[in-house]
Amino acid sequence: MADKTLDTLFHDTLKDVYYAERKILKALPKMTKGAQSPQLKSAFEKHRTETEGQIERLEQVFKIIGKRAQGKTCDAINGILEEGEAILKDYKGSPALDAGLIASAQAVEHYEITRYGTLKRWANVLGLKDAAKLLDITLQQESKTDEDLTTLADANVNAKAMMG
Ligand SMILES: [Fe+2]
Ligand SMILES: [Fe+2]
Repeated sequence: MADKTLDTLFHDTLKDVYYAERKILKALPKMTKGAQSPQLKSAFEKHRTETEGQIERLEQVFKIIGKRAQGKTCDAINGILEEGEAILKDYKGSPALDAGLIASAQAVEHYEITRYGTLKRWANVLGLKDAAKLLDITLQQESKTDEDLTTLADANVNAKAMMG
């Protein structure tokens, strides 16, 4: 396939993250329900609402490049979310549950940060300034979510997890 260029890669990666965001949207209510601390529950709930906006932003980017919004299976996010499900199941009722959920959620955020960081850079290179702006809004939200989860972990969740 000698004809594949950066715009092909951009489109493929957009499909990858579109698939991922829709999986994340489905996973977040389970994380909210499972979380023990009210602060963690509301952090997950807030991010679920943000994720709806992120999906809409991706649909706008598809429109900008003249393609229909379409997902493509992303094994990476499936694996990360499966690990999160395992924490929910294996740590149910345990002091370390919330610490495990935060760790899983941060793995999701870091995955998203790398994808959006890449897409934003490629959009700029491809001269898609509006797309780059949209991708940057989401990138900032993912970074903020990651920081908020660290704050929550440091504030009390990790300390609670140490008590048996
Ligand atoms: Fe997201
Ligand atoms: Fe996220």
